[in-house]
Amino acid sequence: MTTANRPEPAAPARSDFASDFLWGCATSSYQIEGAGSVDGRVESIWDRFAATPGKVRDGSSGAVACDHYHRWPEDFDIGRDMGLNAYRFSIAWPRIFGEAGGQPNQKGLDFYSRLVDGMLERGLQPWATLYHWDLPQYLQDRGGWANRETVDAFLEFADVMTRRLGERVKHWITHNEPWCTAIIGNFEGWHAPGLTDFKTALQVAHHVLVSHGKAVPLIRANVPDAQVGIALSLHPLRAASSKPEDLAAMERHDGLRYRWFLDPLHGRGYPQATLDAIGDAAPTILPGDMEAIAVDTDFLGVNYYFPETIAHAPGHAPLDAEVLPPGEVETTAMGWEVAPQGLAELLLRIEKDYHPGPIYITENGSCYEDSVDAGGEIDDVGRRHYLMRHLASLRAAIADGVPVKGYFAWSLLDNFEWAEGYLRRFGLTHIDYDTQQRTLKGSGKWYRSFLRQE
Ligand code: FCB
Repeated sequence: MTTANRPEPAAPARSDFASDFLWGCATSSYQIEGAGSVDGRVESIWDRFAATPGKVRDGSSGAVACDHYHRWPEDFDIGRDMGLNAYRFSIAWPRIFGEAGGQPNQKGLDFYSRLVDGMLERGLQPWATLYHWDLPQYLQDRGGWANRETVDAFLEFADVMTRRLGERVKHWITHNEPWCTAIIGNFEGWHAPGLTDFKTALQVAHHVLVSHGKAVPLIRANVPDAQVGIALSLHPLRAASSKPEDLAAMERHDGLRYRWFLDPLHGRGYPQATLDAIGDAAPTILPGDMEAIAVDTDFLGVNYYFPETIAHAPGHAPLDAEVLPPGEVETTAMGWEVAPQGLAELLLRIEKDYHPGPIYITENGSCYEDSVDAGGEIDDVGRRHYLMRHLASLRAAIADGVPVKGYFAWSLLDNFEWAEGYLRRFGLTHIDYDTQQRTLKGSGKWYRSFLRQE
């Protein structure tokens, strides 16, 4: 079914959710800030990757993006007027440390300090993500996350940021989507740094998790009343058929995609069946690592976009399992299946498997081909329906006992969508990249009326 002939979904109401529920939008530094070489910011792995021909589909980069670095007051006004009470952003590490072992860059620190004041002045509770993929290139030149020294560099970055902002920022996310950092960036290779080595990818995943585990107590020591967690990208899984080989392939995929991250975070170590399957690609683990990773956190961040269907695929690295493209189902312009019930399904599974405590939906959103009409309006009905239907699913999961405490829509603004460049739009606000004009889309207006209970 296409969006055009889909009936209007029943509208959820804000009053269906707890009065202290957090309602936000999420963004990330490289995708919106621009100002690529301003105020001492140095090159990140995404600048290098984007400058490599053929890596980003439209040949673009985040060098200018939404110019949020200069236009943030207008962007936060949009968030405030929408009725948000929270805002998730990330901190660009290359703005803070210009060289390995160097001193923190005062201008970078001042920028994030102003940003946080700007949020607080507008009633937006700041949710800071420390790592949303923009690793300084000088660290990649020394091996990136595969080099254990990057863990120490991350801890220094986390220390400096939480000391500087901790009086005002109480909610900290160590990492965004370690799967993507590790597997997409270092094995599949279509994200920065663009490597294609499975063993490297698993070492990266391990170091990312260790850096999370070691950062949590450090953040708590620096930030009075800190709430600290990690944001994982997760998908409900379906087997391509009920044949035993497809079911077994789904299990193998699940071991790497879901349990490889959630099991160690919950003190269970890496799943043994996956360790057996990957053999020599297993990461080097130092004494104390697994205990560090298993640190208690205050919440789990869940990023949900779509379910995955898995088929047995002999020879398909690394586990003879393949994620199939969606069949004859409703999809977004990314080709991602639209499955609102998948959100509730995923949340119920996480709650049953791990009982992780408070959960926040740290990202959820959709990409559609938007068109600006003659009156300058963007009636993005597909995105509006996606949002409405996912909130209804979230409400159902909460009614079934999953302790979800907040929701961050991806994204406040159209932005640089990684390997897709500016060809893909996820914003509740349209960006005209020629003029930098912001226009609230129909989806953003719906979220506003939902939040303001109009
Ligand atoms: C997530 C990323 C986010 C954005 C959305 C569409 O995987 O965390 O930066 O690109 O996908």
